[in-house]
This record gives sequence, C-alpha cells and structure tokens, in this order.
Amino acid sequence: MKETVVSGIRPTGKLHLGNYFGAVTNFVKMQYDYNCYFFIADLHSLTTHPTPDDLHGYVRHVLVEYLACGINPEESTIYIQSDVPEVAELYLYLNMNAYLGELERSTSFKDKIRSQPDNVNAGLLTYPSLMAADILLHRATKVPVGKDQEQHLEMTRTFGNRFNRLYKTDFFPEPYAFNYAQNLVKVPGLDGKGKMSKSEGDSNCIYLSDSPEIIRKKVSRAVSDSGPTSENQTKPEAIQNLFDLMKIVSSADTISHFDSLYNKMEIRYGDLKKQLAEDMIIFNTPIRERIEELSKDTSYLRQVARHGALKARESASETIREVRKLIGFKSF
Ligand code: TYM
Repeated sequence: MKETVVSGIRPTGKLHLGNYFGAVTNFVKMQYDYNCYFFIADLHSLTTHPTPDDLHGYVRHVLVEYLACGINPEESTIYIQSDVPEVAELYLYLNMNAYLGELERSTSFKDKIRSQPDNVNAGLLTYPSLMAADILLHRATKVPVGKDQEQHLEMTRTFGNRFNRLYKTDFFPEPYAFNYAQNLVKVPGLDGKGKMSKSEGDSNCIYLSDSPEIIRKKVSRAVSDSGPTSENQTKPEAIQNLFDLMKIVSSADTISHFDSLYNKMEIRYGDLKKQLAEDMIIFNTPIRERIEELSKDTSYLRQVARHGALKARESASETIREVRKLIGFKSF
C-alpha cells in the first residue's frame, strides 16, 4: 500500500518562492508515488480575522496556484479544509489532550504574541492541534513542508502518540517533515535577514505571479552591502541570502562565476542581481502563464474543489468513525 502524504498552505495571499521550494515542489514530485492530500488551510487563516471577501479571494489564489505548479487533481486529492468538517471534530478531541504549557511554548505562538499582541486568540494557541488534526485525519506519515514547520510536526507526533497511549492503540502513525533535498528548506527573503515571508511585506517576497518588471524591480532593491573587504571572506547574511536565492533558480556555472568574483573582491552586486532577476523570470514565467489561464476558469476550479472535498471526506470519515469507537462513543 502507498504511504500517505498530507500538506497544506494557509491562504493569506499569493504563493512565493519560499512556499514553492519549501513545500509545493515536493508535493508535485510525490503525487505519482504516494497517496497525496493537499489542502488549503482556510480554517487556520481565521486566526487573523480576514474579511469574507479577502478569505474567498485568497483561497481561490492558492487553488489556482497549486494547480499551476503542477498538482494534478486526477492523481492527488486537492481540497479546501473548511469543506471537510471532520477536521474540526478531530481538532476537538486532540485539544482535550493538548496542554497549555506545551502550546504556549510553541515558537509560532510566541511569534504571534509579538506580531499581533491585540489578537492573541485561542485559535492561535491551539494552532498546533488543528495542524495535527489535518495530518492525523488521513493518517499520513510524510508531510512536505519548509523548515519553519518542523516544530509543528514534532507536536503532531506528540499528540498522536498521546492519543495512542490513552486509548491503548497504534491507530495514528508518526508523521515526519519531508523534503527531497535531504535537509528541510528555508528560502531567504530579499530584506537581508530571515526567511521569505508575506508577513515581512511584499518587497521581501518574489511571488509566483510576479511579472518580469516587478521581479527586476524587487531584486534590484534587495539588501546587499558595500562589497567584500578581504579575499575569500565569509559572506554576511544579506549576501549569503542572495547566493542562496541563486542556488534555487540559477545554474551551477552562474553561481561559481559570482562566487569566484566575490572571493577575488571583484564582484558587482548590480550584475549579480540582474542575473538573479533574469533567472527568476525564466523560472516563474511558465507558472505565471498557467496562473493567468486557470484564473479565468471558474467552472474548472469549482469542479476540482468539489471532487477534492468528496475524496478527502471519504478518508476523513473513515478515521473519525474509528476514533469515535476508540474514544468510547457508542450508539444505543
Ligand atoms: P504557510 O502557509 O506559512 O506556508 C506554506 C508552506 O510553505 C513553506 N514556507 C517556506 N519554506 C521554505 N522557505 C520559506 N521562506 C518558506 N515560507 C513558507 C512552509 O514551511 C509551509 O510548508 N501551518 C502551515 C500550514 C498547514 C499545514 C498543515 C502544513 C496547516 N496544516 C498540515 C502541512 C500539514 C503554514 O502556516 O504554512
């Protein structure tokens, strides 16, 4: 039997290169060898209170962009999380065995306390149990995600194992984060520090739907410095980030060309950025063109979402039936 894979993306806007190389490209490659469920995590995005119109628009974006990246709805199951109410039921059960201390210690919760101090809601606190429910709902063992999700996977294993111990079962397998590159990926942003992330603003991200003009403009403004001060010096973070971005879109020859210019103190960042922008454009163009095409086809999107919801609910309801039995809910 094929192993099961689950992964999701919060619909908060458009997908960027971090989402693509951290998660989506792995989904796309996995779909022919695994039993794959890819979903749009719209329940998760309620923690930030989007307006109904924004929420719907974001969900549509992610659906279009998943498909444009090559996820094939005939091979894998693509669905919208809120179309599968079983996930909310499993979330409730997992919350009964999730402890305040461990939820408060999660890095993503601590980040949110800092970034949205006026809206520290219970949904943020219990985000890891909803994510665990997403994964355990299909009894997945592999989860293609970026490095930032590693701790959530650890918590998912804790919650699944705790359920198994409590109900003396081995019903939930242990899921692990997965990337074809052996290490989990963290794609840097353009601001010279940290990962590519929508919460750091649009100028920090290259979106899959960005036009060539926008890519050139954003990359030309990427943070750099005044150049190396000695030969073969270690690159500071902002410069290393530019090279790391090159690693995902440029050829090995291009990278070693700029690397040796850097080591000889002959590098001109303007030239490096021009090359990086052109390589990003080459990478993005076919995806952007498919995004434009698919965006127009509402009836196809509707059909994909309906078909996906039916398939996801089949697997989800089987799990919930079994979980209810294990917990001791019995009919008279
Ligand atoms: P989200 O929506 O923040 O990001 C979606 C996916 O993109 C990856 N990612 C990155 N990878 C590498 N470098 C980056 N700069 C970068 N930025 C984002 C993320 O690691 C993620 O894989 N909690 C999840 C969504 C989710 C989920 C799940 C994922 C909910 N339930 C169940 C897997 C399984 C999240 O907020 O991802």
